[in-house]
Amino acid sequence: MSKTIKKIAVLTSGGDSPGMNSAIRAVVRNAAFSGLQCDGIYRGYQGMIENDFIELGPRDVKNTINRGGTFLKSARSKDFMTYEGRKKAFDNLKARNIDALVVIGGDGTFTGASIFGKEFDMPTIGVPGTIDNDINGTDYTIGYDTALNTVVEAIDKIRDTASSHDRLFLVEVMGRDAGDIALNSGIGAGAEEILIPEENMGIERLIESLNKSRVSGKTSSIVVVAEGDQIGKNITEVAEAIESSSLDYEVKVTVLGHIQRGGSPSCFDRVLASRLGVAAVDALLEGKSEIMVGISHKKIVQVPFETAINIKKILDTDLLRVADIVST
Ligand code: F6P
Repeated sequence: MSKTIKKIAVLTSGGDSPGMNSAIRAVVRNAAFSGLQCDGIYRGYQGMIENDFIELGPRDVKNTINRGGTFLKSARSKDFMTYEGRKKAFDNLKARNIDALVVIGGDGTFTGASIFGKEFDMPTIGVPGTIDNDINGTDYTIGYDTALNTVVEAIDKIRDTASSHDRLFLVEVMGRDAGDIALNSGIGAGAEEILIPEENMGIERLIESLNKSRVSGKTSSIVVVAEGDQIGKNITEVAEAIESSSLDYEVKVTVLGHIQRGGSPSCFDRVLASRLGVAAVDALLEGKSEIMVGISHKKIVQVPFETAINIKKILDTDLLRVADIVST
């Protein structure tokens, strides 16, 4: 039997992503629409432990749909990894009469929520917010589309210099464990090669392929490298290996870094965040707990935390084939 929910709380945790504010706004407004009270928690689980709460009504989230980052701030909490920390967090929720939680973040956020849910009676729903798009069970995570557009815009600019100076650019994009950003932005920006954590093509094959495109008449090249790519220790080592090969290229390295996490969310991310934020509160009212709300084939789905975090999302191998063909 699910308990009656009168008051909920919402937080953002882990790396920020564009559209998190749109998701908070949707949670707060569906709470008001459904006759629930809603608190915001600052700095994710850390704020839950340190009692850093704020009451949020529908007007408190005005002018947030278009803002990047998260106005509730975010953190990766070490204290929440301890039982004592989680107990303190639960006591703070109870003291404020909070009956249920919505957590917006990535796999680390859901792992924390899943452990918390097994120890304490606090229905919790996850909303996938990360630029990495690496959460199993949802086609898209909030922030991914905006990040892709940021990367493609940056590479378009880099291409101007690459072609003006006949250079080879290695562009590092985010993605410690997942190649989604690299693969999709690489295709979108017309990269010659895309290096992803899921596939180690090896330095020899990379050089061979760049050489082939040189011989075919290309005078400049762009290689998109995911942060977690396995060739060499890092992108500088890849650059050094190419420079010391027989390839006649001046090699430049650009690390896009946190520029990918910022900026106003795309319309796609705003709509996705609005749908998932509303779905999270709906799920709580249906008596659900320890699930993530996601999107699959355009429809809202509910995915157990275990499925979202313990099963690796499968990379679309057809994209690899497309990338190979269109870079010929
Ligand atoms: O998980 C999101 C992400 O942006 C990853 O792509 C990246 O590896 C990591 O966060 C960087 O984290 P931080 O901002 O803590 O350095």
